[in-house]
Amino acid sequence: MKNWMNDPNGLIYLDGEYHLFYQHNPFGISWGHMSWGHAISKDMLRWKEFPVAIPEGEDEAIFSGSAVYDKDNTSGLGTAKNPPLVAIYTAHSDARKIQAQSIAFSLDKGRTFTKYANNPVLDLNLQHFRDPKVFWDSERGNWVMVVVKANEKKVAIYTSPNLISWEHQSDFGPLAAQGGDWECPDLIQLPVDGDKTKKSWVMIVSLNPGGIEGGSGTQYFVGDFDGKSFKPSQDYAKPQWIDYGKDNYAGVTFSNMPDSRNVLIGWMSSWQYAGNLPKSPWTGAMTIPRELTLTKSKNGLSLVSNPIKEVKSLHTGKPYKESSIKVKGTQNLKGISGHELDITMTIVPNKTGKSGINVLSGKKEFTQIGYDANSGEIFLNRGTSSLSLAIVELLGVQKAFVGKQKEITIRIIVDRSSVEVFGMKGEFAITDVVFPDGKKSEGISLFSDD
Ligand code: FRU
Repeated sequence: MKNWMNDPNGLIYLDGEYHLFYQHNPFGISWGHMSWGHAISKDMLRWKEFPVAIPEGEDEAIFSGSAVYDKDNTSGLGTAKNPPLVAIYTAHSDARKIQAQSIAFSLDKGRTFTKYANNPVLDLNLQHFRDPKVFWDSERGNWVMVVVKANEKKVAIYTSPNLISWEHQSDFGPLAAQGGDWECPDLIQLPVDGDKTKKSWVMIVSLNPGGIEGGSGTQYFVGDFDGKSFKPSQDYAKPQWIDYGKDNYAGVTFSNMPDSRNVLIGWMSSWQYAGNLPKSPWTGAMTIPRELTLTKSKNGLSLVSNPIKEVKSLHTGKPYKESSIKVKGTQNLKGISGHELDITMTIVPNKTGKSGINVLSGKKEFTQIGYDANSGEIFLNRGTSSLSLAIVELLGVQKAFVGKQKEITIRIIVDRSSVEVFGMKGEFAITDVVFPDGKKSEGISLFSDD
């Protein structure tokens, strides 16, 4: 892997393979020449890079979008015997200042794509119209597209019989967080508390800036979808966030899954500083894939995200070895850097003060994850993560309010440059990138104010 990567695009499962396409600059380490890069995995964890899937065209940058398996060949772009995998992306023209939706199809399981001859398929002559996510509505028997009118802070909903002619049905928004462009929407159905017969619709909307921590962020709405319009069923005067950290953006879910799971991958960065992060030989990474569900909470239904169960296949079976204290529930993960850990800890808090764990710690650097009994918050403090990198927006503490608790279980996935925290069985995720000094900072230790 080299060069620049941002949003995940066209996440799709097909014939034993998971595909991750992504916003990619094939020619450089900074954003530009936007094309769809491509990686394939059998388990969503071990990825192999493939050649660029959809390259930029003349005055056509390939912006974010999705992919579907058109198994009935509704588009006519394949055959009944060999149905097409269809990518729906935003064609961005710098010269004409237009964003429109175009399609490309693959007849060889995503290896190569052909751009449709009569592109674009949806053009409103708008400058900020992007990030189509398409799914098959099995109840109504048609395709549905959610796509943003970014600067109007609206998700437009379209339907189509064939992925080529699209009919506008409704707009959703503006609502809740509106401090920036709305981007990368997704509309999915999630089970409630593990009950697959009881599902609710959820609209996911990324926005930049205006996220919970000021930069990029992703909010969600639980509601009803009747095939044409989405109506929130709860009060969203106050936004709800899928992540309380600063580095989970533009996340969308896989299509055509082999099981009933909804799995989201996000871009693990923020537009606030993505261009200023260390860059060698690549910049940009994805979150661990997360299974999404809903749970009943005191505010109605809340989103829950947890690392996919396949993560277990990365456990080495050896408990963390350099620790003088035995940290139960901590597993080394098979990985490239040797820093990867999967930690599960239960904190039984004192009446006052903070307690938790330091990870990626050396003599002076450490990243803290814990619970603050005074404020009732789970926190991830990366202010002391790196001695050498002084980007001011990286120096803060990200927090999620969980209230007074007798016991808090927190799961933490640590990689060389990222910490992903899942608190309260996944009701609160906090994701941040960190830049400690490699081999010098790979320790862990526990801490408590008392
Ligand atoms: C989100 C985003 C999308 C756009 C893409 C361009 O991070 O701004 O709205 O399609 O990135 O790379």
